Amino acid sequence: MEIQRFTLSNVALPLKTLFSGYLLVVGLGLLFAGAQIMLTHGMADGKIGLSVDDIVYSYYGKRDEGSKLVAKLNGSMKDNAPPEVRMAMIKWAETGASPEQWDNRISMDVDQYCSPCHANISTIPDLSNPAEMKKVLAVDEGQPMATMTRVSHIHLFGISFIFFFIGWIFTYATGIAPLHKAILISVPFAFLIIDVLAWWLTKLNPGFAWFVIIGGFGYSLAATIMIFTSLYQMWIPPLRKNHPASPPADAR
Ligand code: HEC
Repeated sequence: MEIQRFTLSNVALPLKTLFSGYLLVVGLGLLFAGAQIMLTHGMADGKIGLSVDDIVYSYYGKRDEGSKLVAKLNGSMKDNAPPEVRMAMIKWAETGASPEQWDNRISMDVDQYCSPCHANISTIPDLSNPAEMKKVLAVDEGQPMATMTRVSHIHLFGISFIFFFIGWIFTYATGIAPLHKAILISVPFAFLIIDVLAWWLTKLNPGFAWFVIIGGFGYSLAATIMIFTSLYQMWIPPLRKNHPASPPADAR
């Protein structure tokens, strides 16, 4: 039998306020984190609410849709060039947009078929300018690696601190079998690793997007259970003891 030096219900008042203040602020922080995810990632597919598509667009991007140039040449720009010119441009864009082909053919086609509008209307990009062309050639490949590395390490360092203290406070809870406690304490760490690993796997393959949602949901749930249990045990049972609904049995 292991020895528990103190329990949440009988810990001294100053420690109770310290623990409670921390848990309340961190709980509020988790709520805002959830709101922030809904507003940034949640809107990635243009619809409110977090979905698997949002995760795919954020990390994998819209690679399957291709570039804006190709999309427009298949869409509203379709009638602005003869079919063989269109096909040549699409092929050029999809095979890496080489500068040689641009010099040999594509720039001439653009001058002839696109520039009458694009070099003269100020609200649409002048595609004869290679810098403007480059913008419409870009394919959305999701968050750049540099951003993901930065966010990954901040996420792992920062959130593990939050789980460390939530878990530590929770070790002083009573009435929960040590094994269950140990599982509940380790779950957020495990899901945090799954979450961040899944970002990277989603970048490689959109099929992993589910794990991002499972990971985030898993650690939020485990943290919420620990926060509520700890707050409850610190304040509610001692309150009941001081104001018993019926006299305790040993009062006789
Ligand atoms: C008759 C005028 C006209 C011609 C010719 C024309 N465009 Fe456009 N283009 C527009 C207008 C207007 C828009 C903005 C409305 C839209 O996106 O459909 C546009 C938009 C685009 C866009 C999206 C730009 C952006 O950043 O949103 C691309 C890409 C594009 N055109 C490519 C081409 C290509 C390639 C050609 C030549 C094969 C071409 N266009 C010929 C009028 C023209």
